[in-house]
Order: sequence, then C-alpha cells, then structure tokens
Amino acid sequence: MNRLFSVILLIILAFPLMAQEISIIPKPAEMAVQNGQFKLDKNCTLKFDENNKDAARIAAFFNDYLDNLYGFKLSNNASENAVSLKIISSLDMGQEAYLLKVNKDGVVITASNPAGLFYGLQSLKQLLPVEAENGSLTIPCIDIKDKPRFAWRGNMLDVGRHYFPVSFIKKYIDILAMYKINTFHWHLTEDQGWRIEIKKYPLLTEISHWRDETLLGHFRSGQEKDGIGYGGFYTQDQCREIVRYAAERYITVVPEIEMPGHSSAALAAYPNLGCTGGPYKVQETWGVHKDVYCAGKDETFNFLKNVLDEVLDIFPSEFIHIGGDECPKDAWEQCDACQKRITDNGLENEHELQSWFITQIDHYLSSKGRRLIGWDEILEGGLAPEATVMSWRGTKGGIEAAKQKHDVVMSPNSHMYIDYYQSKNKDDEPLAIGGFLPVEKVYSYEPVPEELNADEVKHILGVQTNLWTEYVATTKKAEYMLLPRLQAQAEVGWTPKAEKDYADFSKRLENDYLRLTKLGINYRDHRKE
Ligand code: ACM
Ligand code: ZN
Repeated sequence: MNRLFSVILLIILAFPLMAQEISIIPKPAEMAVQNGQFKLDKNCTLKFDENNKDAARIAAFFNDYLDNLYGFKLSNNASENAVSLKIISSLDMGQEAYLLKVNKDGVVITASNPAGLFYGLQSLKQLLPVEAENGSLTIPCIDIKDKPRFAWRGNMLDVGRHYFPVSFIKKYIDILAMYKINTFHWHLTEDQGWRIEIKKYPLLTEISHWRDETLLGHFRSGQEKDGIGYGGFYTQDQCREIVRYAAERYITVVPEIEMPGHSSAALAAYPNLGCTGGPYKVQETWGVHKDVYCAGKDETFNFLKNVLDEVLDIFPSEFIHIGGDECPKDAWEQCDACQKRITDNGLENEHELQSWFITQIDHYLSSKGRRLIGWDEILEGGLAPEATVMSWRGTKGGIEAAKQKHDVVMSPNSHMYIDYYQSKNKDDEPLAIGGFLPVEKVYSYEPVPEELNADEVKHILGVQTNLWTEYVATTKKAEYMLLPRLQAQAEVGWTPKAEKDYADFSKRLENDYLRLTKLGINYRDHRKE
C-alpha cells in the first residue's frame, strides 16, 4: 500500500513536467531538464542593457510576441523574477551560440553575439506553453547550451513564377527566423517574370514583370491558359526594406539574378541581348525555355554588370546567386557571335562557353569583394575559379565541387525540393510539380557525403530547401508547402547528427502546430497520410 502510494505520488509530481515536454525545433545541441518551474507573467521584469541596440531590439521582439500571443508585455520594473538578456562579447562563444538557463527565479539568456541572443529567445518562445493559465506561463527549469552544426541554413523562395507581396515576404522571413534559418535566397528573375526594379533598365519593370496569361493545370497535361495578365515587382526601396527586416532577424538575403538561361522575361524587354534579336516574350508556361542571353555579344555582359551593380548596392550579402542552371545551348549553336567567342577563346564547345560566361561574372563579383554562387550546372565546362556550388541535381555536383576545393551548399532535389508532393495520394493534395517528399525524408538527409575526406568536408557550408512556385500561386499554399518540411531541414542544419531522432521530432511537431495555428500560419499536418 505504501509503495502504491509512493508510485501515485510520483506520477502526480511528475505530471506537470510530463504535460510540458520540451519541444524546441531545431533540437538544441545540449539540454538538461531540471526540477521545478518558473512562472512568467506580466509582473516579471525584462532586463537588458538599454545602451545595446541589438539587445533592445531583441527584447522588443520578445515583448511583441508575448503581447500578440498572450496579451501582456514585460517592463523593467525591478521585480525579483526576471528574464535577463545578456550579450557578453568577451565570452567568445561563437557567432550563433547561446546559453539558456531557466530556474525558479527566472530566465537568463547569454550570448557573445546578438545572433546568439536572438536564437536563445527563439528557443525561449518555444519553451512557453501555447496557452497561458490564469495569465501565467509555466516554463520548466532547464539548462541549454546551443550552437548550430552548419553555417548555411537556407531557404529559397521563387517569386518569378508567382509574385508574393512584401507583407508576405516579411511573414515568410519571420517563419524562417523561428527555426533559426539564417539565409533567405530570393529567386528574383525568371522566364515568367522579372521582379526587381533596375533603374538603368526601366523596361524590366514595364515589360519583363508582366505575362499576358498563365498555364492552367500541370505543364505536362495540357496547354490551356487562363487569359489573365499577371505581374508584380519589388521596388529598390522595398528590396532594401526586406534586407533590413531580415538583418534584424539575423537572416542574410542572397539575391538571385538568373543567367545565362531562364532569361526570357529580360529578353522580352531587351531583345538585343539574345542571339537572334527576338522577338521574345515573357513566358506563360513552365519548363525550360530556349531563349537565353547571347554569350557572344559584349552588350550582354555590359547589361549584366550594370544590373549587378544595382543589385550589389541593395544587397550587402557576400554571396550573390547567378543561377546558371538549365541553359539550353540551341541558340548558341546557331549564333555567329557565340561561335566567334568559342573560337577566339580556344573553347571546345558550348559547355565551355557557358563556363567562360560564368567566369566573366565570377571575376566581376570577385572584383567587387563578393562571391559567386550558382546551381551545379556551373561545373559543366569547368568551374569558375572562385565559384561556390549549390548542388540540386542530387549530391554529385556538390561532391565534385568539394573535391575541387570549392564551397558547396547541399540542396538535392531528392530531399530538399519542397515543391514536391507531401503524400503518395496525390489526388488528395493540391497540384504540385511532381515527386514525393514527405517530412520524414527531409529529416533523414545527411548533408556530409561519405565520399569526402576531412579536408573536403570543410567545404560543405550547409543545407537549403527550395520552394519553386510554378504551382504555388497563393501565400496559404506557400506556407502549406513550406511547413513542416522547413522544420525538418532546420534540424538537419542545426542539430548534432547524434541528437537527431525522427520519432521525437515528430512529437515535437505536434506542439509546434498548436503554436503555428495561434500565429495564423498554415502547414500540412504530417500525421495525415
Ligand atoms: C533548378 O531547380 N532548376 C535549380
Ligand atoms: Zn549568341
């Protein structure tokens, strides 16, 4: 009887802890749950160095979050119970690392850099129960020591196929920040639309942003179009606002200006940049198009360098993405200027001409103190000397680039293309490009290929998911495709390999969904078949 009593007592005592499992995503590197709890309510104080602009901004973000979700804010009211935010640069903990300690008197987050403090607060937000109880938020006592596994934790959004308003780009960046993603790759130019204002070339935002109509349904199943004009672009001021907004959330915006392929929209406005001189049109269907920049004409490079000058002025990112994928060589084969370029430079063929093209841009970006990154086709015909490779057609390109001592971002379509279906039952899902990529498969991805030795592994910068939007026309669908596959990628990029556990992740997602719902963010429940 005595024993039974102790067992019951134990269960009763343990219940609050069991009811509040730790569900931080991505899972921290080190974490130890302690006995006891801290109760956060409006009477607690929020302590930070008011002279530190970063700390003050991060504190304000936390207060906005509390206000939005729970209807109260903290002030610096000198109460004993506190949330303390500390940036101590002398600790030298690493750019994105933080310590988070909760005991029954309060919470202390310590970092040597602002990004670390910001990430500590992302974790604290996920430690809070989704619903307050009598105005108070119970947090389990815990010690967390955390830092990321990889430096590049990226996500790409294609705004060329479909345009998303600035308000949504900000919401999207907020979602990335929740899961400690630090790179937003903004795919700004496409065959179906050019989306960034370039002051020297006004026709890009008069002609190139607009298509007369859009294909209905899947591009392999018919050619019927909707008859509705479609367009949109971001002004340079809006781009700067996005860069600022992202930077405050410790996210770098990497702009992508596609070349030499995927350039129909630019050619529609400036047909002199194509091999035949046109006419060209902003494409209304998906797939790979044969209208590409002429590699033989000097005016192509003048145009691209002028465009890049304005891009570099807006985006401080070290990396600038220049595309480089899916460039059919048909026009180059028939073009006198392109053939002369091949002969003059002793090139073997059109693949080497593509490599020559990318190398011109590589030199230009290097001369401006920036680094070129491109899709893995830039390996064909020889990699430009300073280029970084984004491996998308599987991992082969990434492995090859790392072996050539070039940096690599792993983004294989097999595991990181979140425009693919999330169920085998495609009829139950909204239209997607194809494929099958459930969250568990994203989670299973290991970015470090076995083929690489220790020196080569250092070139793997990290991992990235890509959201192509041929079949994603609404913000709600963009969120549906993004989540929860983004959470899975976040854990691939952040959490030590040994700490990963899909069953545990899957349970944490269930709690995450409650928070997403409260925040008005759409997702696809992975418990559905
Ligand atoms: C790509 O998916 N064409 C990079
Ligand atoms: Zn040409």
